[in-house]
Amino acid sequence: MIQLFHLYKNFGPNIALNDINLRVREGEFVFVSGPSGAGKTTLLRLIFGAERPTSGHILINGINLNRISRLKLDLLRRKIGFVFQDFKLLPAKTVFENVALALEVTGERRSLIRKKTRQSLKLIGLVEKEDAYPLELSGGEQQRVAIARAIVKDPLILLADEPTGNLDPDLTKDIMVLFKSIHMKGATVVIATHSRELLEDTEQVKIFLNRGRIFGER
Ligand SMILES: Nc1ncnc2c1ncn2[C@@H]1O[C@H](COP(=O)(O)OP(=O)(O)OP(=O)(O)O)[C@@H](O)[C@H]1O
Ligand SMILES: [Mg+2]
Repeated sequence: MIQLFHLYKNFGPNIALNDINLRVREGEFVFVSGPSGAGKTTLLRLIFGAERPTSGHILINGINLNRISRLKLDLLRRKIGFVFQDFKLLPAKTVFENVALALEVTGERRSLIRKKTRQSLKLIGLVEKEDAYPLELSGGEQQRVAIARAIVKDPLILLADEPTGNLDPDLTKDIMVLFKSIHMKGATVVIATHSRELLEDTEQVKIFLNRGRIFGER
């Protein structure tokens, strides 16, 4: 479960998040929507512990991120998959290595790492590009590698930041089916998007952000 209490995040004079209170239950599928600059990325980064709040509290499965040690945060993050809006792939590593790296830090057996990496590359339809380097890929292909890296570790929580922003409509549908199947297996899923298409398409919980505030839910 993800709980946010009176969460504020300022960047200098710029208020990116302004008193966010939110509860995402275990196994829930939530869309966070809102215009560019609304605070969607900031919200996901705070939940991931990549950024500290200016004030307020974030609890992940009851653990307060303000009070957690670096080591415990690293352990917690192994259970959280994050699809970055700007992908954050390592340019000197191949597609395969980029995805496998997410598992290597967990100390899994090499044979298992190989198997799971292939599996997730298959799910996003990029097995044939496993030896390519990120800069040799199209934007949509890079985005799919970022998705594979997030799902390879069977995350309990999947945070995806505009995960279909570079994909065509057919691939977008495929990826949404993939996210729903991960959700069906029990994961809590939070997707940030300003895509009307994604929002219209689903029955999931939707939260609207504007200027750092939640102003609607349905
Ligand atoms: N590292 C930073 N330094 C300064 N300002 C920042 C930083 N990160 C975000 N901001 C500001 O915080 C606000 C929210 O940004 P954020 O990236 O969370 O928006 P977003 O909803 O994800 O937008 P988009 O749809 O364009 O991705 C913006 O005004 C942005 O300029
Ligand atoms: Mg963003």
